[in-house]
Amino acid sequence: MPGRFYVTTPIYYVNDAPHIGHAYTTVTADALARWHRLLGDDVHFLTGTDEHGLKVQQSADAAGITPLEQADRNSDRFREAWELLGISYDDFIRTTEPRHHAAVQDLLARVHERGDIELDTYEGPYCVSCEAYYTEAELVDGHCPIHTSKPVIVFKEENWFFRLSRYQERLLSWIEADPDVIQPESKRNEVLGFIRQGLDDVSITRTSLDWGVPVPWAPGHVFYVWYDALINYATAVGLGTDDERFRAWWPHVHHLIGKEIIRFHCVYWPAMLLAAGLEPPHRVFVHGWLLLGGAKLSKTEHGPAKLTEIAPARLVEDFGVDGYRYHFLRDVTFGSDGEFSYEGMVSRFNADLANNLGNLLSRVATVVGSKCGGTGPAPTADSPLAAVAAKAYADAADAWERKQPSEALDATWRLIQGANAHLEEHEPWKAEPGPAVDAVLGDALEVLRLVCVLASPAIPTACREIWARIGLDGTPEEQRLPGAATWGGYPGGVQVTKGAPLFPRLRSPEA
Ligand code: MSP
Repeated sequence: MPGRFYVTTPIYYVNDAPHIGHAYTTVTADALARWHRLLGDDVHFLTGTDEHGLKVQQSADAAGITPLEQADRNSDRFREAWELLGISYDDFIRTTEPRHHAAVQDLLARVHERGDIELDTYEGPYCVSCEAYYTEAELVDGHCPIHTSKPVIVFKEENWFFRLSRYQERLLSWIEADPDVIQPESKRNEVLGFIRQGLDDVSITRTSLDWGVPVPWAPGHVFYVWYDALINYATAVGLGTDDERFRAWWPHVHHLIGKEIIRFHCVYWPAMLLAAGLEPPHRVFVHGWLLLGGAKLSKTEHGPAKLTEIAPARLVEDFGVDGYRYHFLRDVTFGSDGEFSYEGMVSRFNADLANNLGNLLSRVATVVGSKCGGTGPAPTADSPLAAVAAKAYADAADAWERKQPSEALDATWRLIQGANAHLEEHEPWKAEPGPAVDAVLGDALEVLRLVCVLASPAIPTACREIWARIGLDGTPEEQRLPGAATWGGYPGGVQVTKGAPLFPRLRSPEA
């Protein structure tokens, strides 16, 4: 039954240019949004930029521009990157927008009125890169545990504190009531462990900078960037401006996040929502890091090869948009860390796109041209490939549902392999034209039709192109599942065009 699917990425800091780590989450969210659109769900896909806070202020100061100029500049760069990668977001939020200020003030004023925000003084080590306080015990050799090459600074502020400590039991009940609320399970357990240790209150306002959302009841204070940022997910569906819209979408939210921001999303954010009398998030999916030689791709940190300096556009030059998207979706298990390697990307491109899919398309189009006068025959009802297709669909659907694009694509590619094996077994290119050849080619065309639908969340451009080349009207994206996955949809009697190779084989880089 179609439903609603509200999917979010973290909003990215504008002190940095988009790199392949940011793109990793965004491409995955995009693929999930596209899958849910195929299911007929009403989808809302949100991404955006996080524009306040000390980190942005400092990087703007260093560049000699205002924080807003810095934000405008880099927010545009994120939008350009997402356009390049075919990201089908429905809304791009910027935390400097008036609608967001309204929502932040609305939500935090509710918590204040309900008595869970109080004045207090705090002093402790602060990491500007994380925009977070740490306890002495959490530091590693006096440095931030994440930005290990960076010293922390000591901050002392009279701040407004959120009484997080009062929410321990309610957070535990939220997580324990539903095993899927935080995924994967290892991350759920990590959060449960953290909460069970006891929670400290958190400071949620700042007086040391003014680049933030003003606290309505405390002149001179701005909200701490994380509390401002998290609320973006509520702003975008109407909190503070359209409560009915908020109520309609909020129960369907799925947050996708990297593992370094788990506490913010799985502890502070749900607690804040509960304190405002709102529902905690429906789902939080915590994914791993893309690594290069074991180091997270985080801009300022690492050694010689900084993967965060790899712009998606650089890889798109070599692999195309679909080649880019396919690699990250297929080769990194969502939820685990994944090593990035250019060579791995080339192998995957050649094996799955140039060989498996590319060969199927070019063989079928060539033989339809030589044996069927260029007109694609209809599939057969009793094809052995029908069962292979049914299984591929069932497995892929199950995997997308579990947010496992890698498995979903693996299942889809098994169908391609099945069709290639079927062609090799029957060798229609060697046979005389006639019903037997038509049957084999019709079945292969039907597989291509199905693959266009099932792979379209990952490689939308190629799927549209294949769809047109095999003579189908409209686009794969307009199809609706499960109907479109039923064997026999290829009509036959339509023109099949052989075009240039969709995925020309790449040469491995010299070692
Ligand atoms: N602005 C905060 C998030 C606020 S959300 C309310 C932030 N921004 S960020 O620019 O640092 O982006 C962090 C996110 O980018 C990660 O959580 C992850 O989604 C993505 N990634 C950044 N580097 C990454 C890797 N090396 N690997 C995988 N994802 C990465 O934190």
